[in-house]
Amino acid sequence: MTGRLGSLDEHARRLSGTTLARLIADDPARSTDFALRAGPLYANFARQRYDRTALDALFAIAERADLAGALQRLCGGEAVNATEGRAALHPALRGDAAMTAPARSAHAQARAALAQMRGLYAHLADSAVTEIISIGIGGSDLGPRLLVDALAPPDARFRVHFLSNLDGHAAQRLLARLDPQRSAAVIVSKSFGTRETLLNGAIVRAWLKDDARLYAVSAAPQRVAGFGIAPARSLPMWDWVGGRYSLWSAVGFPAALALGMEAFEALLAGAAAMDAHALSAPLRENLPVWHALTAVWNRNALGAATQAVLPYDERLRLLPAHLQQLVMESLGKSVRLDGTPVEADTVPVWWGRVGSDAQHSFFQTLHQGTQVVPVDFIGVIRADHPHAANHSAQLANLLAQAEALANGKDSDDPHLRHPGNRQSTLLLLDALTPEALGALVVLYEHSVYLQSVLWGINAFDQFGVELGKTLADRLLPAIEGQGAADDPVTRALLAQLRGRP
Ligand code: F6P
Repeated sequence: MTGRLGSLDEHARRLSGTTLARLIADDPARSTDFALRAGPLYANFARQRYDRTALDALFAIAERADLAGALQRLCGGEAVNATEGRAALHPALRGDAAMTAPARSAHAQARAALAQMRGLYAHLADSAVTEIISIGIGGSDLGPRLLVDALAPPDARFRVHFLSNLDGHAAQRLLARLDPQRSAAVIVSKSFGTRETLLNGAIVRAWLKDDARLYAVSAAPQRVAGFGIAPARSLPMWDWVGGRYSLWSAVGFPAALALGMEAFEALLAGAAAMDAHALSAPLRENLPVWHALTAVWNRNALGAATQAVLPYDERLRLLPAHLQQLVMESLGKSVRLDGTPVEADTVPVWWGRVGSDAQHSFFQTLHQGTQVVPVDFIGVIRADHPHAANHSAQLANLLAQAEALANGKDSDDPHLRHPGNRQSTLLLLDALTPEALGALVVLYEHSVYLQSVLWGINAFDQFGVELGKTLADRLLPAIEGQGAADDPVTRALLAQLRGRP
């Protein structure tokens, strides 16, 4: 590795002969010194495979890369999305901590949209509608879906269902269990040009047989009007909000319907508090900065090819899916902002599943596989169910797994040996409130952005998803029997598709 991150190699080499257990035994104070709190969120990095000297090097890199300035530029509305020449002002959707004119103007627009959402909520609450179908994909689906799964109360005024996948079985299965008379649909698409969403929107519109129960959220009002949805039933989006950062905007409207407006606003407040922390805390006390530096350390100094995220709370089971888009669509880049190749590996593959289910699935690999997989464990201290024995066992499992990965277990029998020395971060939420979930998601958003700054890449474009979409458009006529494919392998595959029942 060369350049800005090059000095990390030397620390990785220095530490290569030692183990995590030894690092902790030699410096027990790191159990509390390598930990910090931001509002409802506590993070412990003591089981990362760095020592104080390596951390000093990481924070020196953070200083040189001006991470504090980078956060100010993001929240202040500078054109941090340089390849598309625009700002990424998602922090302004939740607060106005950055006192710049662009941020204030964006925040005012977001507040106006929130007022519109309140109006539409009241209108729907006054009707016979009990079921809401949210139609969208990617950033127009994953965030709101996570919020609903994590936070919707069982007695909510509306039940919200999500329809994202292009596969017609998804629409078929969903509509089979709903009554059109009691349903409304929200089509969520920043571009209002996404094929999946428009096809599913057309299916649901035909099924509803009443356009008055069709709503839209989009940054393309003309396309919404072209689809036949009146401005009074449309909510805005803006080009300064990326899809994967948009759950705080009207894209979250379906979630607001499931949670209630009050809880949705509490989510925004928790998110804004994490923005304020990120903007004001010194680097050493800054949670997103610690998280981003740890990610870069694991990727570039220790060579981790993947990163697992394991929430130990059933309500957070969709968090890994949301983070996969957030992290990998943002950081899956090979060229720097100036178009030159990156000097170090960028994002590892992110994956994960809810614990304790995951323990009975892939944990064997985490404990004894040949590749070390850094883990973000996430726990919730207070449960909101009455099953105390389950909760105690759940927390015991959470602590035990992190300890087992770190310390391992020796044995004369190589099959029984647990090598240990496998690093993890432990994030703890006091309780799964809207505020805490807002803070947790923003921690990851800012960590992702800071990683992009350290790698010199743009976290806010996603040109890599375009080629496949364009090819699919080009192949559609061939699938429907008109025309051929240029590529010989695709031609052979088309022959198979056409020749089978
Ligand atoms: O697949 C890429 C993507 O552009 C995502 O970035 C986005 O969240 C998703 O498609 C949906 O886009 P839209 O909201 O415009 O329908």
